[in-house]
Amino acid sequence: MLPTPSKIQDMTCEVVHNRDCGNGLKIMRLRPLATNGAPASFECQPGQFVMLDLPASEFRFRRPFSILATYNSCDLDIYYKIVGEGTRMMQELMQGDHIQCLGPLGIGFNEPKEPETTLYIGGGIGIAPLYLMQRCVKTPGHCFYGVRGQEDIGLEFELKDAFGEENLHISTDDGSYGFHGNVCGLLEQYSDKILAAQEAYICGPTRMMEAAAALLYRINPQLRVQVSLEEHMPCGTGACTGCVVSRSDQYLPSKVCVEGPVFDARSIQWDGTLLPMSAFCEESPCPL
Ligand code: FES
Repeated sequence: MLPTPSKIQDMTCEVVHNRDCGNGLKIMRLRPLATNGAPASFECQPGQFVMLDLPASEFRFRRPFSILATYNSCDLDIYYKIVGEGTRMMQELMQGDHIQCLGPLGIGFNEPKEPETTLYIGGGIGIAPLYLMQRCVKTPGHCFYGVRGQEDIGLEFELKDAFGEENLHISTDDGSYGFHGNVCGLLEQYSDKILAAQEAYICGPTRMMEAAAALLYRINPQLRVQVSLEEHMPCGTGACTGCVVSRSDQYLPSKVCVEGPVFDARSIQWDGTLLPMSAFCEESPCPL
C-alpha cells in the first residue's frame, strides 16, 4: 500500500550525506528538522517531488527534484546528476549543512493492481520515482532501464535489490552493459511481458517516454500507461503557469506541478503525437 503523503511543508532540512554514485550521479539524503518542538515528519507517494532552494542568491527559483526513497517517515533521498550550476552547488553541500525543501508536491503514480506484471520503464535519473514505487509495493515488477553507458547506471545495486536480478533489464546506448541500444529496443524483446501486463510506469526524457508509450500501446492497446513529465517548474505550486502541458483529452492545458507530474500517457498532447519507435531510434539514438 502506498503511504499517505504528508501535508505540504516548507522544511529546513539537514544534509545527512551527499554521496557519489559515479559519473556525476549523486544521492543526497535530507532530514527535516523539528519545528516549534514538533517532531519532523515527511512521507510522499512515488512520483511526487520537492522544490529545493539551492544555496546561491542568483537562483531566483527553487528547483524540482523527484524523490528516490524515504526512511522512517522522515528522511528523504534525492537522486540527481550534476548538469549545471545549480547541481554543481548541490554537490558541494556537506553533512550537517542546511537547505530549504518544499514538499511533497504534485500527484504521483496510482498503485498497481497487479504488481507482479507491472512494467517500470526508466531513463537516466528518471528511474528515481520508479524505484520508490517498487520499494512501496514490494512485489517485484519488471524494470527496463536505459542509460548511455555502464558508468551511468548509478543505482545498479539498489535496483537489483528492489526488483531482483531476473526482473531488471538494462540497456546502454554504447553497448557497454546489457542490451546494446535504447530502452525501446530493449522493451521490444519482451513483448510477452508487455502483453501480460496491466500497467506500466514511465519516467525519463520526454521523447523516450513518448516512444516507449507508443510501443507499449502498439503491442498491448489495453495497457494503462502512466508517465511522469519532466518540465521546468519555477514555483512548483500552481502560481506561475510556467509548466503547462497540452492535453489530448481536454481543451485546457494542465499545470504539470499540481495536476501532475504523473498523467495517463494518452491524455498528453505529445509533440510527435505518440511517436512510432523508429522515430525515436533514428532521430535520437542517445536521448538519455
Ligand atoms: Fe508554477 Fe507549475 S511551476 S505553475
